[in-house]
Amino acid sequence: MCGIVAYIGKKQAFPIVLKGLKRLEYRGYDSAGIAVLNGGALNMFKRSGKVANLEAYAMEHNTEGHAAIGHTRWATHGLPNDINAHPHFSNDESIAVIHNGIIENYDTLKKELIAHGYTFQSETDTEVLVHLIDDIRRNDNLTIAEAVRRALHHVEGAYAIVVISKDNPNQLVAARKSSPLVVGIGNEGDFFLASDATPIIEYTKRVVYLNDEEIAVVDLNEGLRIFNIGNQEKTPFIQKLEMELEALEKGGYEHFMLKEIHEQPRSIQDCLRGRVNSNEGWVALRGLLDYETKMIQAKRLIIVACGTSWHAALVGEYLIEDLARINVEVEYASEFRYRNPIIDENDVVIAISQSGETADTLAALELAKSKGATILGVCNVVGSSISRVTDAGCYTHAGPEIGVASTKAFTAQVTVLTLMALSLAHKKGTISESAFHALLTEVEDVPAKVKEVLKTNSIIEKIAAEYAEAPNALYLGRGSSFPVALEGALKLKEISYIHAEGYPAAEMKHGPIALIDENMPVFVIATKGNSYEKVVSNIQEVKARKGKIIAIVTEGDVNVKEMADHVIEIPETHEYLVPLLATIPLQLLSYHIALMRGCNVDQPRNLAKSVTVE
Ligand code: AGP
Repeated sequence: MCGIVAYIGKKQAFPIVLKGLKRLEYRGYDSAGIAVLNGGALNMFKRSGKVANLEAYAMEHNTEGHAAIGHTRWATHGLPNDINAHPHFSNDESIAVIHNGIIENYDTLKKELIAHGYTFQSETDTEVLVHLIDDIRRNDNLTIAEAVRRALHHVEGAYAIVVISKDNPNQLVAARKSSPLVVGIGNEGDFFLASDATPIIEYTKRVVYLNDEEIAVVDLNEGLRIFNIGNQEKTPFIQKLEMELEALEKGGYEHFMLKEIHEQPRSIQDCLRGRVNSNEGWVALRGLLDYETKMIQAKRLIIVACGTSWHAALVGEYLIEDLARINVEVEYASEFRYRNPIIDENDVVIAISQSGETADTLAALELAKSKGATILGVCNVVGSSISRVTDAGCYTHAGPEIGVASTKAFTAQVTVLTLMALSLAHKKGTISESAFHALLTEVEDVPAKVKEVLKTNSIIEKIAAEYAEAPNALYLGRGSSFPVALEGALKLKEISYIHAEGYPAAEMKHGPIALIDENMPVFVIATKGNSYEKVVSNIQEVKARKGKIIAIVTEGDVNVKEMADHVIEIPETHEYLVPLLATIPLQLLSYHIALMRGCNVDQPRNLAKSVTVE
């Protein structure tokens, strides 16, 4: 859950690594550090808090040097403080290491190293790595690269590491297992290493994504060499980055989250591009075409995910079961991986993940694979671990999502699942041609309708002002709007720190209704559809207990308007597509409420964008 960056080349390394850490700060932001090689000296700068703290501190020192490694942390072992911040030094300060991941057997290794006379400065698991590498290098008089390779044979857990040593000033050694790592091949014989491509894109588009248990040695004389942990050399698979730098900037918005909410007409359009055509009457997720028969013949589709992606999966369940009549089970990946699920070769397991790096989702996939199931993926980050371990999959094409609270990735995930349901239903013949064509047209109209919804931003801001101090909140929805209620509640929780819960509207009478009084805002998705009347009576039940109703209704609705304290109108659309429109006002509500409460909207406390440890 940390961010790592490194550079070696002719340019001054510190500013490049510092800027890279700021780009990766969404991965973890409780402490940061950089080690710079300047001639024969390896200088270390570490500070708790944001990268800006580190910058302020380092500016008072000499940060010159042509090679540097940097880290922004999300603490797992040891409090966020200057000592536990990375990089970590060997006892003779000749080697420094940065690490993203968890060393599961660090305690055993630590005891052995202490017995060998090594002293530890920090409480981190990572520090065992630098002493282990140092120990092996000394004992067997090895190169730093070979010492790293041998050391990793003793390590259990997840890691992406970069090692710098003053005895090898023209070289950096990196390795990964489970945690992501990409190498950037510079245009001046220089090299970049990072957790993802965001720190690299402004310097080069030529990258190599490291696979599990691969080691990269970047050397100013010998270039880039890749080995596996068995010491077999691999030919680097160089890819060209598609994303543009400006996609990483705020584009004039105050926060990445607000920018990404407003990007949804385009991100949904990009997600639909080349995958649906109502004129010619087809829908196709090319990445999954070869697996559609398997999905149709499967006993069931099991979708594994976490957080917001899990909510998208729930919307998918409603659509695929209703449209394609295929049994779908949605699983929390973190539970699925440990509950010894009954899985076999007739099962198809689909992972949904924005980052493609979520540890629990990755492990759930690997478990399913080990039991012979077909494993598919729906990811946003190209080249991510999940996209590489799956048999097939498709990208959501939402573009980089920097705000920790997922917004455009959610609607893009729901868009892919909607296309999946339509494609399977059409192939299976569980939808009439006329209904199919009508829905294709409605789907193509979604981006324009989202644009309309975004125009209600100022109304939403006014409503938000009334509830910014609410201690709790309830979200209600029926059918495929129930997961939208869950998503709305999660957005409010994660960025405004208000306790909120989403419920199927009918479930309220079985308990949560006890919470309702004049201080409880109740956000209800009450758009036209099969369960409209039912939702209206749920609203009356809340009103009877003086609860405050904020209802998302279909344009022109007068009925709910009379009962609700506030209404937010969204364009009429097919019931299956309401989740794509109704989610937007809930994203904006949580954004404005968090802003009014002075919260850090893009980097909320205790969270990080991609949860790469379990
Ligand atoms: C959502 O806003 C959160 N950032 C979090 O719940 C997230 O959805 C979850 O960690 C899953 O991440 P993934 O989609 O990258 O796997």
